[in-house]
Amino acid sequence: MQIGPLPPAHFDAAIQLWQDAGLTRPRNDPTQDLHRALAGSASTVLAGTEDETLIATAMVGHDGHRGWIYYLAVSENARCRGHGRAMIQACEAWLFERGMSKLNVMVREDNAAARGFYASLGYGLDEVVVLSRRLQ
Ligand SMILES: CC(C)(COP(=O)(O)OP(=O)(O)OC[C@H]1O[C@@H](n2cnc3c(N)ncnc32)[C@H](O)[C@@H]1OP(=O)(O)O)[C@@H](O)C(=O)NCCC(=O)NCCS
Repeated sequence: MQIGPLPPAHFDAAIQLWQDAGLTRPRNDPTQDLHRALAGSASTVLAGTEDETLIATAMVGHDGHRGWIYYLAVSENARCRGHGRAMIQACEAWLFERGMSKLNVMVREDNAAARGFYASLGYGLDEVVVLSRRLQ
């Protein structure tokens, strides 16, 4: 798998992958998310491709203090081959190069698969609660 910034030719495939992986929600516009992440210098969307087919994505960015990952997905038929791990390692390298010392991930409480995945990569549970309020 080759990993690099998501090229425009794969935008539609990325959104399809997010939908197929159950990562989209009616209140979020994934196309807008994608364009915003690629436009800013503190964020990007990484693409994993094999034979020029998109098989993995991860949105990575930082707020000047911590790094964050969203939209991590591997195509269903490409899972369990280490691609998810490779995408996280690429995100970690992207953040490290920008001086970030910690990476946070928000995983839905009932997403046991993602929790198992992150646990096997050495990610631990922080003693925090996430609070939020809708602005729009
Ligand atoms: C989570 C996801 C990205 C994992 O991708 P993947 O390519 O299958 O993962 P890898 O093959 O790189 O697995 C890496 C490690 O995680 C472990 N792992 C993967 N899925 C797991 C699961 N469901 N439960 C427990 N461990 C798991 C693997 O065993 C492997 O550990 P090892 O190297 O010690 O053997 C993929 O399942 C996915 O796209 N899921 C749907 C979208 C999603 O939930 N994204 C996360 C949102 S927070």
